[in-house]
Amino acid sequence: MRIFKFDEIDSTNTFLKNLENKEEFDLAITKKQSAGRGRRGNKWSSEEGAALFSIVLEDKKKLELEEVVKIPLVIGIAVLKGVEEYLNLIQMPELKNQLFFKWTNDLYYGEKKLAGILVEKVDKYFIAGIGINLTNKIDEEFQSKAISLRDVMEKEIDREEFILHVIKYVRYYFGIFLNGKWDEILKEINRKNLLKDREIEIHYCDSKIKGIGSDILSSGVLEVFSQGERRELSIGEVHLKI
Ligand code: BTN
Repeated sequence: MRIFKFDEIDSTNTFLKNLENKEEFDLAITKKQSAGRGRRGNKWSSEEGAALFSIVLEDKKKLELEEVVKIPLVIGIAVLKGVEEYLNLIQMPELKNQLFFKWTNDLYYGEKKLAGILVEKVDKYFIAGIGINLTNKIDEEFQSKAISLRDVMEKEIDREEFILHVIKYVRYYFGIFLNGKWDEILKEINRKNLLKDREIEIHYCDSKIKGIGSDILSSGVLEVFSQGERRELSIGEVHLKI
């Protein structure tokens, strides 16, 4: 596995996307990003202390679109499992109960976002970019929505060791997904589904729909009950009503 380490770069996803002669599991790690990117074209605040990294995963099976849409969910649960196991290692297992998977691929601690994932496709490769709030301080304007591990624990965390630990899980889950283990992965996702039985608001194009979140289905969509109807949500931004 080649590791490209930076003190500062525009974005680890952009770096790997533009890298010629990519190799599977190429990993880019940086301390800071000057142009960190989030989903839907959002900017991703990338302060020092956060775990900011991207990995190249090869689409060896030439997946159909209906399989490709599951990749962000697979990476999401892989990151969650990696963080859980890290909490075990550092003897803080009690924090694991607060970790949730928010469809489609965010990691939450309680009601606040702890990590975001951006998966992009270039030729036969997926670039999975992961940003985890580790020891970075969350800007005051985002404190009601985001959280950093340092807000809930006092232990020192070795950023690189943490990233390499999480990457092991990303590689493992991607591998078992390619080997047909989606049903098992989906069970784990649903066990940690933040939106289950929660009041949510779905922002979709220009409209907003209120509903109650339910399970993540085999196709990767979110089941929602809204105005007496069962709906299946494939895209859209979901907000928890707190
Ligand atoms: C989101 O929640 O919108 C996704 C955020 C993904 C951020 C990570 S940080 C490392 C990698 N490089 C980027 O530019 N983005 C991803």
